Amino acid sequence: MEVLTNKLTVLKHPLIDHNLAIIRDKNSSSETFKNALKRITYALIFEATKNIKTKTKEIETPVAKTNCEVFDDDYQVVIAPILRAGMIFCEVAQEMLPFSNVHHIGMYRDEETLEPVWYYDKRKKIKQDKSKVQVIILDPMLATGNSGIDAIKNFISKDILEENIVFMCLISSPEGIKRIQRFFPKVQIVTAAIDKELNSKGYIVPGLGDAGDRIYNTPD
Ligand code: URA
Repeated sequence: MEVLTNKLTVLKHPLIDHNLAIIRDKNSSSETFKNALKRITYALIFEATKNIKTKTKEIETPVAKTNCEVFDDDYQVVIAPILRAGMIFCEVAQEMLPFSNVHHIGMYRDEETLEPVWYYDKRKKIKQDKSKVQVIILDPMLATGNSGIDAIKNFISKDILEENIVFMCLISSPEGIKRIQRFFPKVQIVTAAIDKELNSKGYIVPGLGDAGDRIYNTPD
């Protein structure tokens, strides 16, 4: 794992590299793509949740009593997949965080302006004490940063603290990272790769193409 700043982590591991190669390969089937993406998701979630709060609980093993650290249920963890590609992260995130709530965010990218268009914002009631809510926004591709910035703004407008928001992605562009950092310097970004650039259509180069199309097998 490479921590570039205290708010930006890029996962570094041979298994991440191997699975990223599978994902990037245009000849990988949708099933192969999804399986490789899920394998990387486990590692991303570990990193994205490294600051969730725990409390001490006494547990009795078959041998002795001992103190263990368990999730502190005074806190609420919200996982927020941006539809539709973010859903692939969500399955693994829910498996690993069974105590979390899912807040679906429906947004698509206007192909001309590259601006996000909202169509869905489904959330569970958020705790009264907003300082105890931790949000992990899930989107495989951090490209222009427009959707990510809108999603972050949405949570901040609901009084979630910027420092309690994590943006988790698979591949990011330097532009997307810079924009999130400029607008929201306290948001933690976790990614598996930072690619070279964006092309004129807002796609990450070399990237993997359209994540949603590759996951759901809906090529043009
Ligand atoms: N969304 C994608 O699915 N791919 C990109 O390269 C950029 C945005």
